[in-house]
Amino acid sequence: MTEKPIYVTQPFLPPLEEFHEYLKKIWDSKWLTNNGKFHQEFERSLSEYLGVKYVSLFANGTLALITAIQTLKLSGEVITTPFSFVATTHALWWNNIKPVFVDIDPVTLTIDPEKIESAITPKTTGILAVHVYGNPCYVEKIKEISNIYGLKVIYDAAHAFGVKYKGTSILNFGDLSILSFHATKVFTTFEGGAIICHDEETKKRIDYLKNFGFENEVIVVAPGINAKMNEFQSALGLLQLKYVDKNIEKRKQIVELYRKLLNNVKGISFLNDLPNVKHNYSYFPIFIDEKLFGKSRDQVYEKLKEHNIYARRYFYPLISQFSTYCGLESAQPGKLPIAEKITNQVLCLPIYPDLSDNDVFKICDLIIN
Ligand SMILES: Cc1ncc(COP(=O)(O)O)c(C=O)c1O
Repeated sequence: MTEKPIYVTQPFLPPLEEFHEYLKKIWDSKWLTNNGKFHQEFERSLSEYLGVKYVSLFANGTLALITAIQTLKLSGEVITTPFSFVATTHALWWNNIKPVFVDIDPVTLTIDPEKIESAITPKTTGILAVHVYGNPCYVEKIKEISNIYGLKVIYDAAHAFGVKYKGTSILNFGDLSILSFHATKVFTTFEGGAIICHDEETKKRIDYLKNFGFENEVIVVAPGINAKMNEFQSALGLLQLKYVDKNIEKRKQIVELYRKLLNNVKGISFLNDLPNVKHNYSYFPIFIDEKLFGKSRDQVYEKLKEHNIYARRYFYPLISQFSTYCGLESAQPGKLPIAEKITNQVLCLPIYPDLSDNDVFKICDLIIN
């Protein structure tokens, strides 16, 4: 039993004194939200850090997703993955769009592009794919398909902060990408999110939509929502940028230690780094084959819990198995065999910059023995 509970993640927070300085400036200016100084500065610094053209900041990732779908005026049906956090599909539902689930690829656990075409119908308007665990989707193949069928592509990049593919930000692919800066993410602003786009006109539309549709004081151009990031979140974001590279490096070292300790354990597998990818090591999922390992995923999960260690079964159940979606034809059992297998085997182990080597040894020891 560990003295303090070890959760699957723990947010990195910069030194409090540094945040105090930002707070003082907010107090002095009395400008709390609505495109304040820190908001503007964070948008600029973030687009520079990420290597993308335009960033629009949001109060959270879910509102960014809902607004991204509004921005592209998607309707009818959208093809998506069942192996994600439920917000991915909920964002379609909130836009009155029918999600059509397609199975995942066994290597990256992202949507299998080979299975997209057969799911396209005359009602399909887009593809909403997820860079799950920060693993890039098959972006080239998805682009090819979307070009042929005239579909829009949104990437849910909630897990993919800082990830690069072939030397460029993964956020430069697709029509739009969204990020989440929730407390559980690699980069956090308490809560927060962003949409990344590639041209000024789209950025303008996104910014209207997130602020009630206001173009100016007297003109409303669209039925927008209130999804703005405030000055406190923006200030934390600015500060976090100073530390994020070091934090990703620490995460990498933890992943390397996990891989070393769990290598060659019969019945346990994990993901390796993918070619051409700079990873962010946001999660460390392992896959437990009960027959080979002798214990089920849930037995391991419970055992860790008994020792005050809280691994998480991301993503179990599949989104397609929730009551809201299980009635859809594309959600029927047997239609998503890879996702159905993975969801029963996966366990995400604790990972965060402050996790000690000693804790990693302890966790692995409990799993193996
Ligand atoms: C894949 C994915 N999409 C969307 C979200 C929603 O982001 P937020 O919590 O910032 O609303 C999350 C996580 O929280 C997520 O993991």
